[in-house]
Amino acid sequence: MTGSNGSTAVSDQPALPKPEGLEGVVAASTALSHVFGEEGKLVYRGYDIHELAGKASFEEVAYLLWMGHLPNRAELSELMQKLGQQRQLPDDVVAVIRDIPTSAHPMDALRTGVSALGASDANVFDDTPDLNEAISLTAKFPGILATFFRLRQGLEPVRPKPEHNTAQSYLYQLFGKEPEEKHWRPLEVYLTLLADHGMNASTFTARVIASTGSDLSSAITGAVGALKGPLHGGAPSKVLDMLEAIGAAENVDAWLTEALDRGDRLMGFGHRVYKAEDPRAEILRGMAREASTPEFFELSRRTEERALEMLHERKPGRRLYTNVEFYSAAVLSAVGLPGDMFTPTFATSRVVGWTAHVLEQVANNRLIRPQSEFVGEVDKKFVDIACR
Ligand code: ACO
Repeated sequence: MTGSNGSTAVSDQPALPKPEGLEGVVAASTALSHVFGEEGKLVYRGYDIHELAGKASFEEVAYLLWMGHLPNRAELSELMQKLGQQRQLPDDVVAVIRDIPTSAHPMDALRTGVSALGASDANVFDDTPDLNEAISLTAKFPGILATFFRLRQGLEPVRPKPEHNTAQSYLYQLFGKEPEEKHWRPLEVYLTLLADHGMNASTFTARVIASTGSDLSSAITGAVGALKGPLHGGAPSKVLDMLEAIGAAENVDAWLTEALDRGDRLMGFGHRVYKAEDPRAEILRGMAREASTPEFFELSRRTEERALEMLHERKPGRRLYTNVEFYSAAVLSAVGLPGDMFTPTFATSRVVGWTAHVLEQVANNRLIRPQSEFVGEVDKKFVDIACR
């Protein structure tokens, strides 16, 4: 093809199929987790998520993902001890978080905090990611978030207690008081459910960065950025916004109809891989029934029912179901978290999957470097500015 100034558009590549958004492309081998999209099944290291939810602690799941098997008592106790010892943030990282404007989104604070850990004098990371770094980073996510959360309210950070588990430590550092079991238990189940999920966008991001030989903080900083988007992890606060805007069961139909007529996407529905209900949504629905107020649960349930009916009517054949984000909103609200802390809480769990994937990537690394189909022009001639 010849352009107006004599340039040509060329391709030296064979005509390969180009799945939009890499849909269906296998980008890596992993033994960590798999989403069986047709069946609506999620497996971590051989265990169906229903086997683990409510039975395994978050730390047991972390150990499972990192090490490949469930820990015995001694192994779990050693991991808990290491996490407890690693929770306190280095002073220079706290100083960086103090400089973040209080108007920033907590995901921006998290991304900055993880990046600051990579540059810290405490030398948290070296060039080769390893398990101790994965533990250190996982231990510090609650502290980064809680430090920002408190500073933006004019409160000083709280020193973590080494004896707390991850869910307890997060709530303790956020609110500065001993967390109640009715709050930390559901949070813990939530954390176990979100720890890994196949080759999702943020995990892929982490693996791409790790494949270049970069360090763990860089890989996880990138993953945090990818998770922030509403098409990935940024949806649950928007679910809360939607439910608050709907307000009452009698408004559901009108609100959803207007949103769909505008062409909006309904947050908390649809998934790239699941073509059946997300199994995590089913577990979270049960938890939301227990943890949230009857009014809020009823509003959520009614909205879900009508949204599914309308989506099935308007998008026949698309197989749109409830995803993990929909009931995350109810569960995380019931735990006491404000909407803008939902995605960061997701990250507090997913850091385990990200770091496990980075370790898996570097153990058998090959640079991830795909091709693009070139649709531009070549051989253009420079024209002096006076003549343009
Ligand atoms: N509301 C309305 N329509 C939808 C929705 C939705 N939530 N999800 C998909 N669709 C429609 C699309 O408009 C499209 O219709 P069309 O073909 O007539 O144009 C069709 O279904 C297919 O959608 P795609 O965008 O091609 O599907 P994709 O696999 O890229 O989308 C995604 C997956 C991004 C999650 C999408 O379902 C969505 O935007 N959902 C809402 C946001 C959300 O809940 N995000 C959290 C995802 S879970 C997670 O990442 C942890």
